[in-house]
Amino acid sequence: MKPLILVSSKTGNTRIIAHGVADEVAGAVYMNAADLPEDLSGFGPVGLFFWCDRGMAPEDMKAAAKRLCGKEVACFATMGGCPQEERALAWMQKTSEELVAAGEGNVLKGTFLCQGRIDPELIERMNKMFGNGKPDPARDARRKAAETHPDRLDVLAAVEAWRKCFG
Ligand SMILES: Cc1cc2nc3c(=O)[nH]c(=O)nc-3n(C[C@H](O)[C@H](O)[C@H](O)COP(=O)(O)O)c2cc1C
Repeated sequence: MKPLILVSSKTGNTRIIAHGVADEVAGAVYMNAADLPEDLSGFGPVGLFFWCDRGMAPEDMKAAAKRLCGKEVACFATMGGCPQEERALAWMQKTSEELVAAGEGNVLKGTFLCQGRIDPELIERMNKMFGNGKPDPARDARRKAAETHPDRLDVLAAVEAWRKCFG
């Protein structure tokens, strides 16, 4: 059974984490969530790598997760917010449980969450929407904190998380 690294990434952050894990897992197959083939019998364990999209898993990952059956699954996500906050960890747990339960007979082996640089276009849109185009200090601080992630340590931590889940 080949390990499957299944990825959804809009601006590239999650892709960095997924590539880092794929490089360290012997025989791993790296694939975009949208490219999942019909026959999944040769795959397992499965890593779902996705980003926080308006408080949800992205649509392409939700669609792929529905098709998994009888797999051991670990979930890896990036988000703009602070990943150590309780509400972020609760989001990660809930979203991962929902993805794993969307298919049949899957088991959630673990989760990993780290911060990811926020698309400057999104920041600009939010400033326009909520602040008459003016930057908001709290939002600006969040953006700055996320700016350098994912970094090398995030990638190492994700590899460690995979090992903890699947050995
Ligand atoms: C349309 C959009 C919606 C987002 N919604 C959230 C959100 O609800 N909460 C959050 O913490 N980050 C949010 N983010 C930030 C992303 O989750 C974060 O930058 C992530 O690392 C992007 O991953 P990617 O580069 O793999 O696409 C959003 C980003 C975009 C572009």
